[in-house]
Amino acid sequence: MDLLSTQCVELHPIGEQSSPSSMAENSWLNWYPDRTPEESVVRFAQTLKGAGSQRVLDFGCGTGRHIFYLARLGFEVYGFDWSEDAVKIAREELSRQGLGAELRVWDMNHVPLPYDDSFFDAVLVVRVIHHATMEKVRRAASEVQRITKAGGYLYVEVPTHEKAMRLKREGSKSVECEPGTFVPSEGDEIGIPHHHFKKDELVALFPGFTPLALEERYEHHCLTARKR
Ligand SMILES: C[S@@+](CC[C@H](N)C(=O)[O-])C[C@H]1O[C@@H](n2cnc3c(N)ncnc32)[C@H](O)[C@@H]1O
Repeated sequence: MDLLSTQCVELHPIGEQSSPSSMAENSWLNWYPDRTPEESVVRFAQTLKGAGSQRVLDFGCGTGRHIFYLARLGFEVYGFDWSEDAVKIAREELSRQGLGAELRVWDMNHVPLPYDDSFFDAVLVVRVIHHATMEKVRRAASEVQRITKAGGYLYVEVPTHEKAMRLKREGSKSVECEPGTFVPSEGDEIGIPHHHFKKDELVALFPGFTPLALEERYEHHCLTARKR
């Protein structure tokens, strides 16, 4: 398959078994080596504590930096990621720290997600959901809405449209395969779609949620919202 064509490619067709060592799924294994949670996630966790939330999902948890943080705070933590290796690393670290969380290997494009309706008090989606074409991003977002309780909380972080414009100006090589979705043709994330969001587009992605805060950090929109 030509990953660099001008078409938006299907990196991981629904129903196909994941391959543990596939290049795409393991592109991020060495990111965040110090396991420090994002400052915005630390604030989100304070909001959750104040609200008495208990069951939290880390959607696209990677090697688990937010899983460990939330588990240490005493939340009932769930997480999934499509990278078997990332989930393995997270499980090993959980066990090393004597913490517990319910982790699984899952592709966000494989819907429905494996959780019941209204199962979570809160869902955390940090730098993950934009890794698809918009049709799939919308489908995954609607799953987030389905599995979050009424009154539950959402924190989502996605790259800004301005970031895509900066990368373009600086000569990064990528193909815009649909408006706002870029597929890098070089670097760690080669072949992986990245949708870069405008603010309104991000808010519109979660129509069942009321925005509580929307800030920009490190070229990412960071939305905190509450399900109606
Ligand atoms: C930039 S990392 C962020 C990881 C984590 N949320 C964090 O903040 O540490 C992006 C993550 O998205 C995961 N990912 C990308 N596409 C995915 C998909 N289709 N389904 C599940 N996870 C995916 C990657 O494996 C990677 O762990």
